[in-house]
Amino acid sequence: MSKKTFYITTPIYYPSGKLHIGHSYTTVAADAMARYKRLQGYDVMFLTGTDEHGQKIQRVAAENGVTPKEYVDKIVAGIKDLWSLMKITYDKFIRTTDKEHIETVQKIFKTLYDQGDIYKSEYEGWYCTPCESFWTETQLVDGKCPDCGRGVEKTREESYFFRLSKYQDRLIQLLEENPDFIQPASRRNEMLNNFLRPGLEDLCVSRTSFNWGVPVTFDSKHVVYVWIDALSNYITALGYLGEDDSKFKKYWPADVHLVGKEIVRFHTIIWPAMLMALNVPIPKQVFGHGWLVLEGGKMSKSKGNVVDPVVLVEKYGLDAIRYFLLREVPFGSDGVFSNEALISRINSDLANDLGNLVSRTVAMIQKYFGGVIPKERAAGDYDEDLKAVVSQIKGKTEELMDKLQFSTALAEIWKAISRTNKYIDETMPWALAKDEQNKPRLAQVMYNLAESIRIVSILIQPFMPETPEKIWRQLAVPESQRTWESAGVWGAYDPVSPVAPGEIIFPRIDMAKELEALSALDNSAPAQAKAPAQEKKAEAPKAEAPEGIALIGIEDFAKVDLRVVKVLACEKVEKSDKLLKLKLQCGDEERQVVSGIAQYYSPEEMVGKTLILVANLKPAKLRGIESQGMILAASDKESGKLTLVTIEGEIPTGTKVS
Ligand code: MSP
Repeated sequence: MSKKTFYITTPIYYPSGKLHIGHSYTTVAADAMARYKRLQGYDVMFLTGTDEHGQKIQRVAAENGVTPKEYVDKIVAGIKDLWSLMKITYDKFIRTTDKEHIETVQKIFKTLYDQGDIYKSEYEGWYCTPCESFWTETQLVDGKCPDCGRGVEKTREESYFFRLSKYQDRLIQLLEENPDFIQPASRRNEMLNNFLRPGLEDLCVSRTSFNWGVPVTFDSKHVVYVWIDALSNYITALGYLGEDDSKFKKYWPADVHLVGKEIVRFHTIIWPAMLMALNVPIPKQVFGHGWLVLEGGKMSKSKGNVVDPVVLVEKYGLDAIRYFLLREVPFGSDGVFSNEALISRINSDLANDLGNLVSRTVAMIQKYFGGVIPKERAAGDYDEDLKAVVSQIKGKTEELMDKLQFSTALAEIWKAISRTNKYIDETMPWALAKDEQNKPRLAQVMYNLAESIRIVSILIQPFMPETPEKIWRQLAVPESQRTWESAGVWGAYDPVSPVAPGEIIFPRIDMAKELEALSALDNSAPAQAKAPAQEKKAEAPKAEAPEGIALIGIEDFAKVDLRVVKVLACEKVEKSDKLLKLKLQCGDEERQVVSGIAQYYSPEEMVGKTLILVANLKPAKLRGIESQGMILAASDKESGKLTLVTIEGEIPTGTKVS
């Protein structure tokens, strides 16, 4: 039986300059989806490419003293390098300068003309002489050219028009009868209420004022203007109207076009109308995602290194960047990209939650059992709960991925990771290891940890192309136990070789140092300063410091490493009324801290408490005993009360507090 197919596309990018991290957003999302469907056994077609025609490219090329083709060739090579760096697994890269694309666009234009869907008329618009650009009334900014800000003149130009208005009723019907056609739903309402119901105007589809475009075969003065050329890529790439249209027959209609929110209109009005006119089926879904912006404004206005995906991947690693893009912002909404947010995600979710879990587990299997978990195992408390949570994750992830909810899918997977970290705190393997008799129980605990990690490592594959392999190597997961299906089967882990402790998968990043290094790297100016004046946010009122308290910046606060810890043991310090000596569990390590709380807490009531530790305080000696950090407490001098700072709910020790 032939496999089920899945056809996904990104928009084709304008090769007018370097791509920034916002562009990578769409492509990384599409790649995650393509990988996910392949893992599920689909025959996937993943298309991306470049939209190379138009006046702007022609002008920039001339400014650079090269032909438009020479200009785009160089940029397209850079885009392909970027996608290879980001491990984008596209099946086809289409360029609108490809011969086959040009020929098919010409056929489409001619067909539409012959059947009366395209007709010749006059285009009235605004012309900017220095830029040699036409603009519509709505494109003008304060009545001026949106590119250079200079005055524009009203002009007329002979043009071909597509009879978009003719399709208005069918388009309304399409949107009304197929509520899932446009996602998220809010964008569907916007299309219906703001564009379709008020009425559509015919669309200008050719130009005579420049020649860098697909020539209209029957009228050599004209080139095809933008949308008929660009949108057709989704079918020309499959060989539509070409010599070999087997791919078109196999993959069309597309399962999903992923596009940014500003081009939803073209994909859900012009594109279906074109397809209706050609008598070609309509794609199943258009998903309009939100924008990643910088705090100070649009990303496109910043040329800085802070948003250069190549720099970001080199600095933080591919999987960290891909994880951040897909986790930080719910797909569909807008989100702010900041280095602080990126680094804190890396430190908390990746280094601490996932990385630590893997290295602790592998290290414990090595330490307690020489690398091989014994077969003699004993079940115990918490096992069933862990199993129940982790076994459900595959189903939940699939349900969310099928709705392109990347961020919530990752959040679900991270719930399993947190549950597993909590299981370590609950079962306390280091305590079990003290008694030989506990070996079977310890073996079961190690097995359960390894099994949870195996399941997680399979499910993160669509998002992270590099990490799963690293985990499998360290945990010695045989190939047959890495299949997507096996992520739904608790108990499939059965290694044949010993674990292999290795590199730290996600090293922690020193936030303060890193932010300093980044601002030095972005030598022109901080990202915010690059937004044009009119896009800058109104300046925030200056914060007033309460008297006697100096305000600090976030970078100062970031220097303090606060961690969740659990009290393992506690005793009074000899010959002192005030001091208690505490043994604390902080992730993988144990800490000894001396604290002046003996008048408020007895050693017995301290054991088992979850507290907050200042983990990077220089060690100090109190009564000759080394204290490796400080635990936080609130104290009121007037009433003489003191209360330790604790944390609500269950969270693994070692977790960063910020
Ligand atoms: N060439 C057209 C698309 C034609 S599709 C038939 C185009 N190109 S583009 O290069 O300007 O944009 C490509 C995609 O990148 C768009 O989906 C756009 O929304 C997306 N993004 C550009 N900047 C972005 C962010 N800052 N954040 C998220 N996506 C962004 O439009």
